[in-house]
Amino acid sequence: MRRPTGINRRGSTLGAQVSGRRAGQRFDAERGVLTEALMFLGDLDPEAIGSSLAHATHYEATPVADFGRLIGHVPFALEHATFIDLGAGMGRVILLAAMRPFRQVVGVELSPALTAIARGNLRSAPRHAFRCRDVRMVCADAAAYRFPRGPLVVYLYNPFDAAVLTPIAARLAARRCPLALLYHTPVQREVIEALAAFELVAEESCGVVYQLARREQR
Ligand SMILES: C[S@@+](CC[C@H](N)C(=O)[O-])C[C@H]1O[C@@H](n2cnc3c(N)ncnc32)[C@H](O)[C@@H]1O
Repeated sequence: MRRPTGINRRGSTLGAQVSGRRAGQRFDAERGVLTEALMFLGDLDPEAIGSSLAHATHYEATPVADFGRLIGHVPFALEHATFIDLGAGMGRVILLAAMRPFRQVVGVELSPALTAIARGNLRSAPRHAFRCRDVRMVCADAAAYRFPRGPLVVYLYNPFDAAVLTPIAARLAARRCPLALLYHTPVQREVIEALAAFELVAEESCGVVYQLARREQR
């Protein structure tokens, strides 16, 4: 459906989309990686994905500038935290997170084909730009992923619907360590906001940042 004002369903203008795509292409060219793409999982490896396909969105990378906007709101030091991108795709966000001083950076991706591309990107990307030494990709369904102990920064770029997000959000809400949730294009934000454990830290045009309320932490 055409929108008369040039505003897409994610709320960005056509001009912003084009400049975001150019910045993405520049990001790839400068690092010798491939992250700027639009891929539908059903065209990639539907047999390997199985029934989770019904709950998954397509692959599209976070615009480079948007990551900077959201990560700047994490309300605790990154040095002791693990960064986890649930639905990491080709790995642009884990490459960006690796340039911050996280203890560990993990990308969790459902599609084996996208995971293979992300791992290739990790091998190609210049290491001197990394401030985190432990950066890895896991091919798994986020629904089954077991989060590591300790402080977490969890990143979501609208990866799946409420059926998958609800139990994950409940598991995160039950944690007792510092936790920030960065949610780009927060289509299912009511799932998070239904849980008293999460409080809103910041709202940007591209997404929202929550933290686990301090009373939940021991
Ligand atoms: C919009 S893309 C975001 C990619 C990346 N996080 C970024 O921001 O550049 C969403 C990704 O979530 C993945 N995904 C969807 N459902 C998933 C699930 N249940 N477990 C893990 N990954 C999933 C898709 O394959 C896709 O790569």
